[in-house]
Amino acid sequence: MSGKDAPSEQPQPGQEAKTPEEPPASPGNTPINEEKTTISCRALVLTGYGGYDKIKLQVKTMPKPELKSGEVLVRVKACGLNFAELMGRQGLYDPLPSPPVTMGMEGAGVVEAVGPEVEDKKVGDRVIVLGRSGIWQEVVVVSSSRAFVMPDQMSFEEGAALPINYITAYLMLFEMANIKPGKSVLIHIAAGGVGIAATQLCRSVQDVTIFGTASASKHETIVQGGVTHPIDYRTKDYVEEVRKISPKGVDVVLDPLGGSDTQKGFNLLKPMGSIVVFGAANCVTGQKRNLLALAKLWYHQLSLSALKLMQSNKAVCGFHLGYLKEEDLISETMAKLMELYDQGKIRPKIDSSFHFEEVADAMRRMHERQNIGKVILLPETKKEEEKPKTPTETVEKEETTEAAAKKMKEEATEEAKEE
Ligand SMILES: NC(=O)c1ccc[n+]([C@@H]2O[C@H](COP(=O)([O-])OP(=O)(O)OC[C@H]3O[C@@H](n4cnc5c(N)ncnc54)[C@H](OP(=O)(O)O)[C@@H]3O)[C@@H](O)[C@H]2O)c1
Repeated sequence: MSGKDAPSEQPQPGQEAKTPEEPPASPGNTPINEEKTTISCRALVLTGYGGYDKIKLQVKTMPKPELKSGEVLVRVKACGLNFAELMGRQGLYDPLPSPPVTMGMEGAGVVEAVGPEVEDKKVGDRVIVLGRSGIWQEVVVVSSSRAFVMPDQMSFEEGAALPINYITAYLMLFEMANIKPGKSVLIHIAAGGVGIAATQLCRSVQDVTIFGTASASKHETIVQGGVTHPIDYRTKDYVEEVRKISPKGVDVVLDPLGGSDTQKGFNLLKPMGSIVVFGAANCVTGQKRNLLALAKLWYHQLSLSALKLMQSNKAVCGFHLGYLKEEDLISETMAKLMELYDQGKIRPKIDSSFHFEEVADAMRRMHERQNIGKVILLPETKKEEEKPKTPTETVEKEETTEAAAKKMKEEATEEAKEE
């Protein structure tokens, strides 16, 4: 880990980041070379479902890409790790195509080439990129509509940390829960990527009271970030804790946990309140899939008849960015987020940065609930002296053959078909 307490993040069907069929060569940071007919790029590939060892750092070599209309080729400088990738590795995240597949849904980098009819981006632009998968690699080809120009002062790490966490938090709070001044919100996993984004966005509205659950060691940080009442859900009953302070409950619950916690959240709502269900973290207990936890989660799901819902005067919403196909909504939200960033109202908090070689350590950090903010993955090769004594990842070198390129193309076609 190149641990940085930085300055101070499901991408969409139909918007696959592709492995480029073009530019540079040689692993590392290879510039596009017009004369070369192949490119090679380091990529983190999920080779099967299971533990950390299922993600391999591979060097793919393939022909130079021919960018289609509306596509851009981006050299990725930093990528975001999401909880969804922990689930994806265990085979619990539907939007991720089946292995073998290059993982990664968000990143930031520099435009190295633009395809025909791309007018809103140019070579050299610093951009944030979004995809359903395929971003954890040195160079990606994405639709220009999925590349967003970054503010000058934004670092690549911040850029990579922003889209998924902040789009999710923004749309849940402002489009679904319709948060207003004077309201109260319960944010679970308040020290995580979405949690910190949601806290900052709540702070942009006057007098919002924030109840935030997190491990005790993270309370100081979340209070500094704007959480009014931190709650150690690991040692205390958070429902009781909320009721001690606000006997009538809260106006909004953001629920990334699922199972019995959705029921608890629903019960905690005041009349006219809303719960937004957006995750199922409770089904993850360790490195590998836990069928018992899955069964428990499904068994304890919130189940309501429409009549009961009507009589409760409450709203139940569901949000999943991975299934949101509204391109305009995503672009508009990104534009608003960039404005909020420029105004200093939001600032992604980077927990730590790991090189691609250390992806297992990055995932472990999140699995073991150590992160406060975003965990970042860096495509750049780790310098020799920085390398851990016992490498945790296998670097597999693929042959520089047409066959490798063909395989990647078939993968992309398969993924497109699945969509
Ligand atoms: N629907 C969507 O579009 C969408 C988009 C983004 C994220 N999400 C959901 O939002 C939640 C947070 O995601 P994120 O990417 O921002 O990650 P994150 O919050 O950084 O996740 C890591 C943190 O989650 C907490 N946690 C709770 N249950 C856990 C478990 N079973 N295993 C490990 N850690 C657990 C831990 O913090 P504590 O110290 O608090 O325990 C841990 O540090 C996830 O449920 C994710 O699926 C949904």
